[in-house]
Amino acid sequence: MFEALREVYAPIQGALEEVNRAIVRIVDSPFPIPLEPFFQGGKRLRPAAVLFAARARGPEDRRAVQAAAVVELVHASSLIHDDIVDQAILRREVEALNYAHGESVAVLAGDYVFVRALRGAYGLGIPPIVEELLIVVQDMVVGEFWEEMATRDQNFSTDMYHRIIGKKTASLFAGALKIGGLVRGATPEELDLLFRTGYAYGMAFQILDDCVDLFDETDGDAKKGRWSLPALYLQERGKVDLTRPGMSLGELRELTLKEGGFQHTLGVAARFAEEARTLAGGLPAETREGIQRFLRTLDILSDHVQTILTPG
Ligand code: FPP
Ligand code: MG
Repeated sequence: MFEALREVYAPIQGALEEVNRAIVRIVDSPFPIPLEPFFQGGKRLRPAAVLFAARARGPEDRRAVQAAAVVELVHASSLIHDDIVDQAILRREVEALNYAHGESVAVLAGDYVFVRALRGAYGLGIPPIVEELLIVVQDMVVGEFWEEMATRDQNFSTDMYHRIIGKKTASLFAGALKIGGLVRGATPEELDLLFRTGYAYGMAFQILDDCVDLFDETDGDAKKGRWSLPALYLQERGKVDLTRPGMSLGELRELTLKEGGFQHTLGVAARFAEEARTLAGGLPAETREGIQRFLRTLDILSDHVQTILTPG
C-alpha cells in the first residue's frame, strides 16, 4: 500500500520530504521523551491533501509545507489522545505513548504536540487557517466524545456512526483541503468545494479504515466495542446483537461476510468516494488535477481492504 501511495505522491514528493523534515524539527525540540519513532510512520494523507490543494510542488513552497506539517501534527496529537482514550498498545507499529510511558506522560505529550502545531499555524501569519483549525479540532473532540459515550452505553447505530466519523475524521480532511486553498488565497467558492471534497473523502477513508480494524484481533476498536459500519449494518438487520458479548471477533467477521455487511460497507465508501470525485470535478482546472490525483488514495485503500477480505 505504501508503495502505491508513493506513486500518487510523485508530484509532491519534494514538498512532502520537506514536510517530514519540518515535523522532525518541530518534535525534536526539548520534550523529555522521544517522539520521533511515532512520527516516522503514517501514510501522510493529510499533509498530502494540504499540498495538493495548495498546488505545491517542491520544498520551496514554504508556506504550503508548513501548513501541511501543522495539519499532520494536529492529526498526530489527536492520535496520542485517542490512544489514551482507547488504552491502545500499538500505534504506527511502535508502542503507543500511553503504553510505553503511562497515561499522564502521554496526555502531556499529546498536549505538547498539539500546542506546537498551533504555534506553527500561528506562525504562518494567515489568521483564517488558525480559525479553520480551531473549528476542526472542536469537531474532532465532539466526535471522539460521541464515540466514547456510544461505547460506554453501547447505543451505536449506523446514523450515529456517520455522525461520529463526520466529526472525528472527515472534518480534518475537509479542513486540510481548505487550508491548502487558504495558503494560496483561493476564492470562497473554491474553498467551499475543497472543504466539501475533503469531507466526502474523509467519510470514505474512515469507513474503509474501520473495515481493516475489524481484522485487528489484539488492539482494534471493534475488539473494544467501538462498532463501525459492517457490524452495525448487521445489527440493524437483526442478524446480531452487538450489546450482548459472547461472539468472538472472528465469528462476527464470518457472519458479516456471509450477510453482505462488508459488501454494503464498501458500497457506502464507494458512494462517498464518488461524491468526492464529483465535487472535485467542479474545481478550477489547475487545482482539479492534483485533487483528482489525491482521490486515487481512496482506490488504494479500497484495494487494500479487498485484499484483506479475500484470503489466500
Ligand atoms: C482515530 O480514529 C482518532 C481520531 C480520528 C480523532 C481523535 C480525536 C481526539 C482524541 C480529539 C482531540 C484532538 C486533538 C487534536 C487534541 P480511530 O480510533 O478510528 O483510528 P485508529 O483505529 O487508528 O485508532
Ligand atoms: Mg482509535
